Amino acid sequence: MIDTIKEHIAKVEAFSAETKEAVETFRIAYLGKKGILNQLFAEFKNVPNEQKKEFGQTINQLKSAATDKVAQLTASLENPLEESGKYGDLTRPGNPVALGARHPISIVKKQIIDIFSRIGFNVSEGPEIEDDWHNFTALNLPEYHPARDMQDTFFVQTDPDILLRTHTSSVQVRYMENNQPPIRTISPGRVYRNEAISARSHCFFHQVEGLYVDKDVSFADLKQTLQYFTKEMFGKSKIRLRPSYFPFTEPSAEVDVYWGLETETDYKMTKGTGWLEIMGCGMVDPNVLTNCGIDAEQYSGFAFGMGIDRIALLLYQIGDIRLLSENDLRFLEQFKGVL
Ligand code: DAH
Repeated sequence: MIDTIKEHIAKVEAFSAETKEAVETFRIAYLGKKGILNQLFAEFKNVPNEQKKEFGQTINQLKSAATDKVAQLTASLENPLEESGKYGDLTRPGNPVALGARHPISIVKKQIIDIFSRIGFNVSEGPEIEDDWHNFTALNLPEYHPARDMQDTFFVQTDPDILLRTHTSSVQVRYMENNQPPIRTISPGRVYRNEAISARSHCFFHQVEGLYVDKDVSFADLKQTLQYFTKEMFGKSKIRLRPSYFPFTEPSAEVDVYWGLETETDYKMTKGTGWLEIMGCGMVDPNVLTNCGIDAEQYSGFAFGMGIDRIALLLYQIGDIRLLSENDLRFLEQFKGVL
């Protein structure tokens, strides 16, 4: 008899059900009025005295096993997993929230904006898809100007007038068309050039353009502004301006900062010269002012343009420009906690 009860216990424990009906059938079979438990209890009086204790204990075991099983199956069918997962097991450790990092391009861009905003420059932006006028013609680069070849351009095929801007100088034009001097603005943004992708160059990268237009702005103002910038950005204030050519500035110059030759890295970075080229600049060509609706007799200005990616590669000693756009977390995570 006791063995039969034990078999029932094993059966009850192994029981599982997919539907509430199956649970109900199971409940009636064991716990119902005419169910197995009541039948077994009815046998109690026939059990020999010496076995009564064990019989009673075993049958109580069966009763609680069946009661528990019904409760457990009913609960799980009423709250299917997804729903009970709303709160889940509140005692389990939480999922850690992964802490992000600023992208090195954003870090450098932010530093540049901070530095220029301290001397009164605001931030302006323009579209990445540009027209010929803003990217070239207004900047003193008419249609057949050979200097257009300096920047290999992505054109939108259906319309040769529409292109991906090759530099942020296009924002200068837009800003001057919409604002009269005094103008002090910097324009960070992404630019595109039809170049083969390698460790050193990419078909898209980032620039910051600077523009200052007012009465009596001179080359000396340009030089002082750039010196202030290199001091704040790199902690180095020795700069030199090498004569150069850009169609939109006259005179034009290339800016080198004296990096020094103290470490082996300095040697590598500067190819043994101690000097690093960081940007192009010049006095805004009066033609450009006129093109943009600013009186060139009354006003003068300076402009400069630098590559953000290049500066990020220098500052963080990154050997391959492609790392800046591949989004490899092993790379990006190294910038956690910077600014
Ligand atoms: N637009 C030039 C480039 O992409 C950079 C530049 C040079 C911008 C001189 C300027 C400037 O505003 O004055 O290579």
